Amino acid sequence: MASKILFIGGTGYIGKFIVEASAKAGHPTFVLVRESTLSNPAKSAVIDNFKNLGVNFLVAIKQVDVVISTVGHAQLIEQDRIIAAIKEAGNVKRFFPSEFGNDVDRVNAVEPARSAFATKANIRRAIEAEGIPYTYVSSNFFSGYFLVSFNQPGATAPPRDKVVILGDGNPKAVFNKEDDIATYTIKAVEDPRTLNKILYIKPPANTISFNDLVSLWEKKIGKTLERIYVPEEQLLKNIKEAPVPVNVVLSIGHSVFVKGDHTNFEIEPSFGVEASELYPDVRYTTVDEYLNQFRTSSLFIEATGYMEKFMVEASDKAGHATFVLVRESALSNPSKSNIINSFKNLGVHFLIVSKKQVDVVISDINRSLLGDQVKIIDAIKEAGNVKPGATAALRDKVVILGDGNPKAVFNAEDDIATYTIRAVDDPRTSNKILYSKSSFNIMKKIGQPSKGSGDQTNFEIEPSFGVNASELYPDVKCTTVDEYLIQFV
Ligand SMILES: NC(=O)c1ccc[n+]([C@@H]2O[C@H](COP(=O)([O-])OP(=O)(O)OC[C@H]3O[C@@H](n4cnc5c(N)ncnc54)[C@H](OP(=O)(O)O)[C@@H]3O)[C@@H](O)[C@H]2O)c1
Repeated sequence: MASKILFIGGTGYIGKFIVEASAKAGHPTFVLVRESTLSNPAKSAVIDNFKNLGVNFLVAIKQVDVVISTVGHAQLIEQDRIIAAIKEAGNVKRFFPSEFGNDVDRVNAVEPARSAFATKANIRRAIEAEGIPYTYVSSNFFSGYFLVSFNQPGATAPPRDKVVILGDGNPKAVFNKEDDIATYTIKAVEDPRTLNKILYIKPPANTISFNDLVSLWEKKIGKTLERIYVPEEQLLKNIKEAPVPVNVVLSIGHSVFVKGDHTNFEIEPSFGVEASELYPDVRYTTVDEYLNQFRTSSLFIEATGYMEKFMVEASDKAGHATFVLVRESALSNPSKSNIINSFKNLGVHFLIVSKKQVDVVISDINRSLLGDQVKIIDAIKEAGNVKPGATAALRDKVVILGDGNPKAVFNAEDDIATYTIRAVDDPRTSNKILYSKSSFNIMKKIGQPSKGSGDQTNFEIEPSFGVNASELYPDVKCTTVDEYLIQFV
């Protein structure tokens, strides 16, 4: 029979993941809940989920085999009462105190983190003194806290312009997804290899320096961030001056990112085991995979058309999660097989996606279907989650009528695609017309720049409605008409 597990603090941030993993693994699962929490509307979703999972709410320690504490910071010190109750009951086979962070016996922290770590270390000593069988879970960083924010105080998403790096960014830290921390914790419950040991959750793919983390993210978003390094001296000063809780976050950052406290020691078999080595069957979420959820995702409609194949390629190259909506007939159409195969090679997603799943819609449907765009716009409005996107017209050929004097604009398709994808995340193009009008590509007749009044050039781009791509992105080396024509010479 699977061990009966009692949770104290199971309604907290990390607790709810571990309670769920316990119930799903078939353990009779009990949660000690405050009466006020049972009727707290803010906790009703957590409580209802526990009820659906068959979790029990009232129990005495005598009735269970394992006790897992996930109480928060303020209650850590009160765990001495749990220790006393476990000792008195005498039947508990394993106690997991509220740890779930650094190995508090191997830290080089300054205040206030130093005291918080010391509280957890004192609880360890009390457990050992009472001879209570234990496992200490050193889960290192929660991804939901530290990968989402990149340790930027107050941030709710990874940075897109600049990033503050504590120290020189070289020590390695460890970031784990909460569900994986829960899975490993429950695996350890009955495992004799974790008895009276520290269980380190330190999978190789999640052990990464801050510098490499930023580089990985830059690759995904196709953009270089400004890196602002804070030397240790300055950081120590900032910690002293910062209010609670910023000083707590900064001092934990100092321990991990400057002192390297997640990785600056070897795990010796005498005191510890590593979770991904013990349980190689657990398919944990890597840092790389975790970050994908924050990439811009774009859905292309009628993506096998002339212009859009360039856009899809540029979107993929820019690191966006790229989805294409393709008619079934196009998938089996031999004349489309080249483009379909090239999308497959790029790793573009062919899933039939609902518009709710994407941020940006780029439409380039054939002119005869332009009327259908109204339907797309209606669907976007209904979905409500779409950021302002870009629309580009087909430019397959230009007929110059009249005397040939007005200026027209000719752009290489790759450049249109590059500019369009650049615009996707750029607030300067939001609710604006993006003109692709490089001075090199404005021509009267081929090779003869001149003044004129054609509809592509006979107006000024006013900031109120438009922006010029070659000015916004001067680093894009676009193909000039002159260069383009060389291929036909
Ligand atoms: N590694 C990391 O990145 C990281 C990040 C955050 C936390 N942690 C660690 O994870 C552990 C759990 O932290 P957490 O943030 O998940 O905790 P939390 O969300 O603050 O959870 C607190 C839990 O304690 C209960 N509680 C609060 N006050 C109580 C009281 N007076 N009497 C009885 N129960 C009370 C709460 O119950 P109610 O629902 O009834 O209020 C809740 O279940 C801690 O050891 C913390 O240091 C690690």
